[in-house]
Amino acid sequence: MQTTILKGKTVSSKIKEGLIDRVKHLKSLDITPGLAAIIIGNNPASELYVSSKAKTFKKMNCFSEIFKLDKDIKQNEIIDFIKRLNKNDKFHGILLQLPLPVHIDENELLNTIDPIKDVDGFHPANLGLLMQGNPNFIPCTPLGCIKILDHYKIKTEKKHVVVVGRSNIVGKPIASLLSQNFNYGNATVTLCHSRTSNLSQFTKQADILIAAVGVPNLIKKNMVREGVVIIDVGINRIEDKDKEKGYRIVGDVDFEGMLNHAEAITPVPGGVGVMTVTMLLSNTIDSAFNKIKKMEIK
Ligand code: GUN
Repeated sequence: MQTTILKGKTVSSKIKEGLIDRVKHLKSLDITPGLAAIIIGNNPASELYVSSKAKTFKKMNCFSEIFKLDKDIKQNEIIDFIKRLNKNDKFHGILLQLPLPVHIDENELLNTIDPIKDVDGFHPANLGLLMQGNPNFIPCTPLGCIKILDHYKIKTEKKHVVVVGRSNIVGKPIASLLSQNFNYGNATVTLCHSRTSNLSQFTKQADILIAAVGVPNLIKKNMVREGVVIIDVGINRIEDKDKEKGYRIVGDVDFEGMLNHAEAITPVPGGVGVMTVTMLLSNTIDSAFNKIKKMEIK
């Protein structure tokens, strides 16, 4: 079986093309979609992600500002900081890059972001709307996965989707979305996680497997049936002395092992990662449009 490589870049380029006119329209109204990205402490991977988000915004004529806060900053100080961003009209979106240092209460901070600027879709109000089947901002990585499936015309209706990983960022929202009565839903979803016993028993039943656990090469050929579609959300650094940086990036799935076994698979890098950034851009542009609509209603 010839395995189709589901290229995030192809999908992302097409979506970005569609966003150009939306940005132009906003510019004609003197509005530049703006993102505030907050990063706390020194996590090299987070710094890389945030700078890649900023680059994409710049390329698309949008505005972003990175706020790097000290790792020892107090919870109250961050809350005050977020509240100021909530009131700042330059920013249509606010993103708090995760993970956070251990002394920080993540939920309290996410709950402080104004839901109308919560372009990550992590605020309980937005997660609640998603659960109701009436989403406002859909978390960027799940939305990116759905856009990849949509682009490659891979249907989810009546399929058995097995999600491995129950994070708030990916596993839980994507399991909810795919099980709902949406265009890209109507799947039967099994959500597996680190306490699932005999993981293979479930992964072997997947028509579509979504791996989002953060364990390098966890999912092997013998754990899935031939013809499975694989969306690999993992972005893991593993040591590689042959590389200049001393590491390379791999997913949660043994990519090489799946070639000529899976029907389709997203590569890492080059798969879901780029889509996360694109959907963040798309959500921020939507947020800027939402603001105009609100002004019109007033
Ligand atoms: N860390 C890993 N993925 C994400 C994401 O989509 N949003 C934020 N804020 N942090 C992340």
